This record gives sequence, C-alpha cells and structure tokens, in this order.
Amino acid sequence: MPTIACVNGRFLPIGRAVVSIEDRGFQFGDGVYEVVRSYNGRLFRLDAHLDRLEQSARGIRLPIRYSRAYWRRLVTRAYEMSRFPDAKVYLQVTRGPAPREHRFPAVVRPTVVITVRRLDPLPESVRRRGVSAITVPDLRWGRCDVKSLNLLANVLAREEARAAGVFEAILVRDGLVTEGAISNCFAVVGGAVITSPTDPSILPGITRAATLELVRREGLSLEERALTVEEYRRADEVFLTGTTIEIVPVVSLDGAKIGRGGPGPVARMLQERFAALVAAECGGPAAPGGGRASRRSRRT
Ligand SMILES: Cc1ncc(COP(=O)(O)O)c(C=O)c1O
Repeated sequence: MPTIACVNGRFLPIGRAVVSIEDRGFQFGDGVYEVVRSYNGRLFRLDAHLDRLEQSARGIRLPIRYSRAYWRRLVTRAYEMSRFPDAKVYLQVTRGPAPREHRFPAVVRPTVVITVRRLDPLPESVRRRGVSAITVPDLRWGRCDVKSLNLLANVLAREEARAAGVFEAILVRDGLVTEGAISNCFAVVGGAVITSPTDPSILPGITRAATLELVRREGLSLEERALTVEEYRRADEVFLTGTTIEIVPVVSLDGAKIGRGGPGPVARMLQERFAALVAAECGGPAAPGGGRASRRSRRT
C-alpha cells in the first residue's frame, strides 16, 4: 500500500514531492497543520480537524481559499488512494514561497501538502499498562491554540522525554500544567475529571473534545481548570489524549506513582467508551474471518 503525497492538489510519490526552499513553512515555520486518523477505512472527525485547521489559519492571518467541499474531496481522495485502513493523514498549509523577508509577501500563494501514511497504533499492552511521563517547562509561544508548524519547543520536550525513557513530557507554565508535548492532559481527583480550559495556552484537541463528550455522557463531574504540578502528582488518576494515542493512562510522573501506580477506573472506562465511539462513527474492527466491510461503501 502506497504512502501518498499531494502538493497543491497534485498527487505524486512521496520521494518526488518537493516544495521550494523559499517556502515560508521551511524558512519561518509560517504555516499550520493537522493530523487526522482513520479507523477501518473511515476518517475520524474530519470536519472537526478542518474546523481547527481553518481556525489555526485565521490565527496566523493565512487565507485558505479551499472550500470545505474541496478539502473534503482532496483529503478523502488522498486517503482512498493510500488504501491503508488505519492511516495518519497529515495536512499542512504554509504562506508559500517568497524571498526571505519576515513581513507577509505582497502576493501569497499558499503551499498545501497532504501525506498519508500507515498508522502504527500504540500497542494495546501500552494502553492497558499505562505510561510514564516527566514534567518540563513549557517554552512555547503564547498562541498554543494555533496548530502552527513552529514545534521546536515540543520537539525539545519530546527529546527530553525520550532521554528520560518516558512516554510523554508534560508541559508546565507558571507552576500550572498546560498539556503534553503531543497530547492533552487530564487528572481525576475525588471522582471529578479535570483538564485545562481551552485558552491560548493549549491546543483544543479533537480527542480532548471527544473525551469531554464521553465524560458528560457518563454523568461524571467535569472541571475545566488548570491544575498545579503538585495537584497532578497527588491526583487519583492522570491520562493523556491525542489523535494517534487516543486515551492513555499515566501511571508515573517524574518517577513517582500516580494513585496506585496502575491505570485507574475512570481512564479505563473512558478508553472503552472511546473505542465504542470510534466503532459507532467509523465501524468496528475486522469481522471474524478477516473480512472488513467494503471501503467503497464507506464515506467519511
Ligand atoms: C500540543 C498538543 N496538544 C494536544 C494534542 C492532541 O490533539 P488531538 O486530540 O487533536 O490530536 C496534540 C496533538 O498532536 C498536540 O500536539
């Protein structure tokens, strides 16, 4: 099955897909992106991702002239060409090529790149056992609600996590947890599910939103407020959410156990409900006997 690339509407093998060295995405990180995933041949919450892409583009004053219908057609076509049932679809829009000057070019010709790759999901054993995390200072800019290409602070935080041998770096600004380097963070305290509010200090995650739907549906108490690192350390449960990781319990933070040091009941219940939500929206796992429903009959 092929890895697909599409540059400004033109499909080509990924090794031949190129953009100009003068592209402002390359020169300044002047652009925005999305990562959409599919399950069983269907894209999960594509419209929510396209909404966020448009919001991010507005946040950096980047006009995107593609209509919603065109975006959907292009992304769906790229995805269908890949023939990966479970794929990671990357969308990127930059302010395009121009001689290197910080101010916006007089004429903007955005570069739109789509790639589709096979998704290697987090192993079920990791999801079941939970993961470890460390806290690191949040060095990012003031508009973390914009999914911009400027990921250097996230890259450095992820590298710290890798060097520490843990799964995620949880970012801390002014003593408060904002989110993970590639995830949103939740704590469970006395039965209440607590997560940072959607303000410019976090990315409004699509998985976060789906998780909040599930929390409300289950009638759990929900608070959207930022917690201190100490409150996270003392929480009964901590978990992370993200498109590629779904819902993952954190069982150790900075080397100390969270709760009893294993996945808690709220995170486990939400994992199950999330799997049911995905099955309802994208179809269930492969039918016994190996056959998946025909992808032709499926629409995103
Ligand atoms: C900084 C950050 N926060 C949160 C998330 C989770 O967002 P989503 O659930 O939309 O993938 C991501 C995902 O990449 C992220 O990079």
